[in-house]
Amino acid sequence: MNENTPDASQDLSALLDDVRRHLLWQEEAAGRVLMIDAKAALELQRSGPSLRERFARTHGAPDAAPAPQAPRAEPPPPRMPTVPEARPAGWERPVAAPQAGQGATVPARMPPPAEARPPVSRPLAAGMLVDAPPRQSPPTSGPPPGASSGERPTLDEIRRDLGDCRRCKLCTGRKNLVFGSGNPRAELVFVGEGPGENEDLQGVPFVGAAGELLTKMIGAMGYRRDDVYICNVVKCRPPGNRNPEPEEIAACEPFLRAQLAAIQPKVVVALGKFAAQTLLRDSTAITRLRGNWRTYEGIQLMPTFHPAYLLRSPAEKRKAWEDLQAVMKVLGKQPGSRA
Ligand code: URA
Repeated sequence: MNENTPDASQDLSALLDDVRRHLLWQEEAAGRVLMIDAKAALELQRSGPSLRERFARTHGAPDAAPAPQAPRAEPPPPRMPTVPEARPAGWERPVAAPQAGQGATVPARMPPPAEARPPVSRPLAAGMLVDAPPRQSPPTSGPPPGASSGERPTLDEIRRDLGDCRRCKLCTGRKNLVFGSGNPRAELVFVGEGPGENEDLQGVPFVGAAGELLTKMIGAMGYRRDDVYICNVVKCRPPGNRNPEPEEIAACEPFLRAQLAAIQPKVVVALGKFAAQTLLRDSTAITRLRGNWRTYEGIQLMPTFHPAYLLRSPAEKRKAWEDLQAVMKVLGKQPGSRA
């Protein structure tokens, strides 16, 4: 249709009327003049019905132009804040309560409440499952150390499997691998951190100054050293007695777990943070873990202070003794010669 025909000019004049009405409404509603530049006005004039339709689509149909009671300068509806992709674990923020006439503003990513989350189960080297917090290194997969058949390996088999171990860099500085010593059927096992200089020289755990104190503690509990079993998280001496590193712990851990599975003691005493945190897969500080019974693979586990720490902080011996007394109660032991 030609724009000079009567239909076209009627149409255009109706459109301009609509625009005028709309501008007036805008002015009234927003308290300011809506700016339409000259170019847009010209385009509006030239384009005929198709632009009118577009105008209606974006601004509302002019026929349905706002009545005087039309909402005045309403603020735009609240927008959901964008949630960054990577949130630290446990991040939470409150869910906004639903407003009248508005949907609930549910955050884009909200972790489910802790109680709604299934517990994390991780396979152990020994093929069992425990509920466990995340760990730094994944547990070693495959058959448990020393397993040649479906049966639980003995300590001798585990030792043979360990062999001349080269699984981590601690092997480069060791003189002797310190596997463990004591009664293979012990009801009580002590787990330390790792060999020191004397242990490295002799190939026997806890034979230095800390070992002397541990031997006294064992005596005070009414046992002889040979009655119990003693081993460490890592079997080779960390150079300069530094802390064992996560990869070193991860390399040795299956052997420690296999040792405990072979012995099946009634109680494990975890000496210090490395033993307690490794066995429990719990990064809680030893000061908070100690003195509280835990369960390790169905075995009762008591975390307590490491004897080397007790040598540096003798005032803490009282707490360690309380922990050992709790162990004695469970095992039905009477005190021996007190350290
Ligand atoms: N400290 C340990 O943790 N283990 C030992 O064998 C000796 C000292």
